[in-house]
Amino acid sequence: MPPHPSRLLLAGAVAVCASLALVMTGCSSTPTPKPTPHTLTPSPTPTALSLRDLAAPIGLRIGTAINNDTLARSTAYRSIAAGQFSSVTAENAMKWSAVEPVQGKYNWAAADELVAFAQQNDQLVRGHTLVWYKQLPGWLTAQAATLTPDATRAILKKHIFDEMKHFKGEIWQWDVVNEAFDDKGNLRDNLWLQKLGPDYIADAFRWARDADPDALLFYNDYDLEFSGAKSNAAYALIKKLKGDGVPIDGVGFQTHLDTRYGVPDLQKNMQRFADLHLDVAETEVDVRTPLPVTPEAQAAQVAEYSRSLQACLAVRRCVSFTVWGFDDGTSWVPNTFKGEGAADLYNADLQPKPQLDALLKVLKESSDAPHRAD
Ligand code: XIL
Repeated sequence: MPPHPSRLLLAGAVAVCASLALVMTGCSSTPTPKPTPHTLTPSPTPTALSLRDLAAPIGLRIGTAINNDTLARSTAYRSIAAGQFSSVTAENAMKWSAVEPVQGKYNWAAADELVAFAQQNDQLVRGHTLVWYKQLPGWLTAQAATLTPDATRAILKKHIFDEMKHFKGEIWQWDVVNEAFDDKGNLRDNLWLQKLGPDYIADAFRWARDADPDALLFYNDYDLEFSGAKSNAAYALIKKLKGDGVPIDGVGFQTHLDTRYGVPDLQKNMQRFADLHLDVAETEVDVRTPLPVTPEAQAAQVAEYSRSLQACLAVRRCVSFTVWGFDDGTSWVPNTFKGEGAADLYNADLQPKPQLDALLKVLKESSDAPHRAD
């Protein structure tokens, strides 16, 4: 079959990019003003093609979480975010506490800025996240103890409708429910389970479909990538939801890895969810390690990044590979995991690390043998 015209155009863009060898940012398929040759700074390690360029012909989006404060103040950060990635996720700006800090008074400013940035740069947006037990607004947690089930249900439904309608048509994938399982594979004992029972999950997906029928609706969690009780429990629930006709389109594997815990069975686990006729995605990839980083640890990080992307490439329904931030300077890891860090593709000075080269290499190798966009 002859290549689709859009794929030919892409191939042309890739070729032009290759000849430019842009510094640090790589090259995006986004139309940018043509630089005059003397404005190009020679790079010691030219990255001729960006992640997004290499992934485009094989039908894969490479995404990153975005920190809004850094986006507003750093040109270098913006340049990498636009150059390397074809999808973005708000690290915090779409969470309930950010969008509705006071009950009934919305603040969409940061999230709208991110959506505008994405549109300017020809990127898709992952919406993150609607139903979670963390980063709830203070007004909600303050009332939680006394809320009736009916009132809780009405508040949750309104939140899903209000937020999804605000962004209607602008979000590619929504993480409708996030982290509903605890580490042992039981439904997490959170506000939603306590007040509404396990059906809150199915209800959330049904409301979400009504609110924005064009968005892909995802269940998102961590440790689904490892075989075990939690991944099995999530699999059983999602299979049941699908069987019951609940509108769920995909499963997000957060993929927060740590060199201390070894390599997950990511491909196997993604494939079994994909076999339920669902899209799958790696949604929050990072690979942390105890500090300071040893050469062995860095080699392990490089290998884990590579394997994670290879797993996605091996599963036809893996539609996106998203890192949870791209630089060690803004990473959530040091604030969350004491003594650990260096989890990202760039260092705190926004210089690329071998982890970035490893992902570029995996994509280059896979574009030699395209199999996804056939
Ligand atoms: C984290 C952010 O990165 C931090 O800035 C914030 O303080 C806490 O949340 N799983 C998720 C993400 O689904 O929303 C979390 O993001 C990281 C773990």
